[in-house]
Amino acid sequence: MAFPYSSSSLLISLLHVLLFIDPSFARTNTDTLGGTLVPEVCQSTPNPGFCVSALNSDPRTIDINDLDALLEVSLDLASSNATGASNKIRSLVLKTRDPVLKARLEVCVNEYDGALEGIEETNEFLKSGDYDSVNLAALGAANHADSCEGAFKQSPVYQSPLSTDNLNLKLLCDIAAAIAKMLEA
Ligand SMILES: *[C@@H]1O[C@H](CO)[C@@H](O)[C@H](O)[C@H]1NC(C)=O
Repeated sequence: MAFPYSSSSLLISLLHVLLFIDPSFARTNTDTLGGTLVPEVCQSTPNPGFCVSALNSDPRTIDINDLDALLEVSLDLASSNATGASNKIRSLVLKTRDPVLKARLEVCVNEYDGALEGIEETNEFLKSGDYDSVNLAALGAANHADSCEGAFKQSPVYQSPLSTDNLNLKLLCDIAAAIAKMLEA
């Protein structure tokens, strides 16, 4: 009696193992379809899920298999993101009648100008292969997003209308900074 019981429980365990192996095997195959570079790179960023979906949102990513090209994609994403957010902030400045909120938004206009300048600067650094400076410039741009968010936390505290935008820019800059770090000699 005891023997058949344990052999069927062994069978069930084997089935479990197979059931557990199968989905992860399928997932690995899907990832490989777009290359393993993106998931590998994104593993060293603060938010790997955001990183994978952000990089894959650019059609160029599918054909990319080197870090330099991926770095350019990440910087382009950060740049267009910052431009989009900056336009949004400028239109909020025009719309708002609350002078305190207006002042906060104006801080953010300046911070986003700074962020865009920093991202722009990386073009020169890339030409000379100065990845250390690319890394610093990307981290600097991320700091500008943080400073914009911080402006709303001053007294009197305002609910930031830009939290998502600031987080997006910060995470995109973090991706560029991480890739530049990998490329540092
Ligand atoms: C900024 O990036 C996020 C994440 O990739 C995306 O959802 C959002 O649409 C982008 N915004 C602009 C203005 O490009």
